[in-house]
Amino acid sequence: MVTGRDSLFVSLLILLHSLTSESAKFEVLGPTEPIVAVAGDDIILPCYLKPNISVEDMTVDWRNLDFVNDPVYLYQNGKIILEDQNPSYRGRTSLFKEELWRGNTSLKLTRVQGNDEGLYECLIKSPSWYEDVQIQVFVKAVGSRPVVSIEGHREGGMGLVCQSEGWHPEPDLVWLDSKGVNLSAETSETHRDLKGFYTIKRHVIVQETDTNRFTCRVLQRRINEEVETEVHIPSELFDYTTPWRLSFLVSFPLGVICVIGLALTVYWIHKKKGAKIDQLNLKLTSIK
Ligand SMILES: *[C@@H]1O[C@H](CO)[C@@H](O)[C@H](O)[C@H]1NC(C)=O
Ligand SMILES: *[C@@H]1O[C@H](CO)[C@@H](O)[C@H](O)[C@H]1NC(C)=O
Ligand SMILES: *[C@@H]1O[C@H](CO)[C@@H](O)[C@H](O)[C@H]1NC(C)=O
Repeated sequence: MVTGRDSLFVSLLILLHSLTSESAKFEVLGPTEPIVAVAGDDIILPCYLKPNISVEDMTVDWRNLDFVNDPVYLYQNGKIILEDQNPSYRGRTSLFKEELWRGNTSLKLTRVQGNDEGLYECLIKSPSWYEDVQIQVFVKAVGSRPVVSIEGHREGGMGLVCQSEGWHPEPDLVWLDSKGVNLSAETSETHRDLKGFYTIKRHVIVQETDTNRFTCRVLQRRINEEVETEVHIPSELFDYTTPWRLSFLVSFPLGVICVIGLALTVYWIHKKKGAKIDQLNLKLTSIK
């Protein structure tokens, strides 16, 4: 028979049980705004429990949901589990050990690279409860100053190629004349390296103009960044009769020096051409 006292006892037990499981519940909190990280920097992705109970006996599972499904960082039963860690994050992630007892599971990520961009999940599991928070991370990297190479005579003009490395996100490349007008160029080629940084390259064929100045501009609108290199091509180079092949680097302002040097060389070759060929013949005969 169930007496009044017994039923009171049972209700007390139920109340007690619901109270304890209530206290085992927690919220997982993170930043409300996306995080913008500069490539090469070290960043902290905030994540913590409310109430600030210890996670030392829980599972802390950090992932980049946009990338591959292997964990970025996994902490379980007081240990770091590295077996399945995404290789791209190897040696670059850690938790703050001294913070775990107060529910701070923020992730430290060092030497940020292009691939690190994505939607991160911080998932905390206890035996009786789990919750997660998601954090958007954007990575910004401004590439190198464009390097312009002169490829020589091409289809009735002068072939130039421009290249810039180390961008994130993927940039655009435009060739401009001295008035800032778009030149029609071949389509640009982009390449993404293992760390997620982009290299962009674009060929153009230019015709002689009154200034012979051309600009290669590489820009990324989302991060509002651009870099450019201007080159000056001496008009002698447009001369089809110039008997040479060239393939060298012009990088402003070093390029200016090269180009001046080159112009002098062209002049000198033109002047000495006849005499030089005779000298060369003489030398060849003497070698025989
Ligand atoms: C936990 O949070 C409470 C307030 O919510 C605060 O008073 C206390 O200092 C915190 N404890 C730790 C270890 O951070
Ligand atoms: C968590 O720990 C990190 C590193 O010490 C600290 O920067 C961050 O402010 C902490 N977060 C909270 C909520 O205590
Ligand atoms: C220049 O050309 C590129 C494509 O080559 C195009 O996307 C861009 O809008 C053009 N800019 C101007 C100012 O015409």
